[in-house]
Amino acid sequence: MKINGTTKLCGVIGYPIEHTMSPLMHNVFARATGTDLVYVPFLVRPETVRAAVEGAFALNIQGLNVTVPHKQAVMECLVEIDDAARAIGAVNTLVRREHGYQGYNTDAAGLLRALQEERIKIKGQDCILLGAGGAAKAAAYMLAAAGAGHVYVLNRSRERARELAENMNRWSGRELFAVIPPDHWRDIPQGSYLAIQTTSAGMYPRTDEAPVEEAEFYQKIHTAVDIIYTPSKTKFMKLAARAGARTMNGLAMLLYQGVTAYELWNPEVTVPAAAIAEARQLIQDHPGGRQDEG
Ligand code: ATR
Repeated sequence: MKINGTTKLCGVIGYPIEHTMSPLMHNVFARATGTDLVYVPFLVRPETVRAAVEGAFALNIQGLNVTVPHKQAVMECLVEIDDAARAIGAVNTLVRREHGYQGYNTDAAGLLRALQEERIKIKGQDCILLGAGGAAKAAAYMLAAAGAGHVYVLNRSRERARELAENMNRWSGRELFAVIPPDHWRDIPQGSYLAIQTTSAGMYPRTDEAPVEEAEFYQKIHTAVDIIYTPSKTKFMKLAARAGARTMNGLAMLLYQGVTAYELWNPEVTVPAAAIAEARQLIQDHPGGRQDEG
């Protein structure tokens, strides 16, 4: 890698940031597309988010990813916010504009591209959404924007689920989202569902957890998507597979949210499939990417 006076700088801000896979991924994309760009992690404490964004702009940084816990706080520090990010209520990508940064959310687009790659249909599809946190909002927006059928939201905190459903129903102008307490899953109408798991239950090191434990629940599901990728097979995926469902983890979503951000920073570039495959392999082989109990 040759760094010189014209090298563009991008990075990711978060707290903590040590375990981020983004530098690995974006530096592969830069090399593969012959872009003069380097991507680095920045540890940014919550109380210095504004200073970090203003400092980044002053330093001519071209773009930033934003991760936990700054995805909402950063919205106060931008000159413009993309419609999808506004609807989701979180920003994970900053793109340099003339007077500051414009905020985007590439999680929804990343999830959509991951599902499309697997030919998983959304239009008219009835869905179960597990969780109501930040990741769930991106998934909910993607489902509504892509024309999903009914979406049943199951979340431990009913209040959060209700808020998500109300916001998305308002956004879509339809009664698309309904809340069901996780232990009332039997109230979900008979049918065959696409389920998207967005809670942190089952994520390393809590690999023995699933948001719903009863095996019978999983008979409602034809395709089970977990946005967790460590471990590569979560308990949710195993329970779904045992009930005959097709399963998919969150690695492709991680990759495609990165691809979408990279293409926002470099509009003249399309990240080639071979670079995505290389990044996928590197993440899988990374020690943090293998916290997998099989
Ligand atoms: P993220 O941005 O990753 O979505 P978050 O906003 O903190 O993180 O949301 C975490 C989600 O995981 C929430 O839906 C949370 O449920 P609550 O809203 O009830 O807190 C869910 N969650 C976390 N641990 C869980 C567990 N052990 N069982 C079920 N749900 C869990």
